[in-house]
Amino acid sequence: MNTPRPLGRVEAGQDVEVSFTVNGTPVTMKVPARVTLSDALRDRLGLTGTHVGCEHGVCGMCTILVDGDAARACLLFACQVDGADIVTVEGLGRPDEMHPLQEAFGRHHGLQCGFCTPGFLMSSYDLLSHEPDVRREDLPEQLSGVICRCTGYRGIVDAVDDVARAHPDGIPAPGNCAARTLVGRGGGGSNATPTDAAPVEDELRAVPREITLPSGEPTIDVTVDSELTSSPEEVARVLADIPLLARCLPGAELTEDLGDGWYRGRAKVALGPIRLAFNGVAQVVEHSDDRIVLVAQGEDTGGGGAQARIELVVEPHGTGSRMRADARVFLVGRIAGFGRSLAGDVSRRMFEQFARAVDQTAAGAEPPAQVEPPGAARLLAGSIADRFRRLLTRGRAALARRRAG
Ligand code: FES
Ligand code: FES
Repeated sequence: MNTPRPLGRVEAGQDVEVSFTVNGTPVTMKVPARVTLSDALRDRLGLTGTHVGCEHGVCGMCTILVDGDAARACLLFACQVDGADIVTVEGLGRPDEMHPLQEAFGRHHGLQCGFCTPGFLMSSYDLLSHEPDVRREDLPEQLSGVICRCTGYRGIVDAVDDVARAHPDGIPAPGNCAARTLVGRGGGGSNATPTDAAPVEDELRAVPREITLPSGEPTIDVTVDSELTSSPEEVARVLADIPLLARCLPGAELTEDLGDGWYRGRAKVALGPIRLAFNGVAQVVEHSDDRIVLVAQGEDTGGGGAQARIELVVEPHGTGSRMRADARVFLVGRIAGFGRSLAGDVSRRMFEQFARAVDQTAAGAEPPAQVEPPGAARLLAGSIADRFRRLLTRGRAALARRRAG
């Protein structure tokens, strides 16, 4: 690890500016001197793959790489890693292209609850990158710095031994390190770069690079067609004004224009009786008079996360227009457990409400200050009505088939 930058005398609660690279993303943040690196990674940057067990350097759950060597993130203060190159478990592999160690842990059942797995992965990466010819009989001792509560050691040793044999000349480097947007929990942080003109304040300023959506099936995949009374040209004027468009989205609030098509904002969503509040960023990736595509990612203040790709297409229809909204939403964390059906119903209601607000705004109505998200009761009533309508349609179709037969 690089020699830490001398800080001079700093009080425990005093903020210190620190810059480092994490999984290939340059980060600058201002943190109280006593904030641990594990807390900064998890809470400021949203990298919750680094688990925290004992916070005393005993369990090894928080193991990360600092300048290529394993280190306990709970035993380092964030301000100590100024200038360092950090890799966390998120940087090891991609969901669609896992690191050989991650694949081997899966293959050999090297995890049960998985709480120790990030620590074991980073610790075994450190071991194999420094000692590729480690003997199998030495693995239990070499890996003894991480504790597994589920006693899954046999599978872990098998997995690490398997990777060591498969890569005698050295283990492949971490495969998911690239500059990208990081969003902290509760909006408390992100990757950030201070400028002379605007020194870093308590709230960090993002320099987004990329939003990468996961591959595979999204949690929510909805298409909503809405007929609007406004003409395509009138709707195009709303589509061209991103802050105005954002005000039409229920619960959304655009808080900052970051330039180059990037925006920071907040969104409130009600999933049944649960109210979620997301902080995040969005990027407009395609924009024309009749089509707009944006990608967004945010973190719920309770620890859940969401990523989405939303496409809006407007076309002439009768004397007005038709707007098609396609949304693919990936939910992670505690909110991923919500039923797809409920989450899909909520999204559908939101886009219907959005289309009405766009239509009214396009027709010249005073733009809404902010469209409130639909309440739980209204969503439930709408959802029940939808299902009732679907059942009725199916019943009528079955009756018609029986009569025809
Ligand atoms: S949480 Fe860091 S060693 Fe236990
Ligand atoms: S798999 Fe549960 S703690 Fe190790």
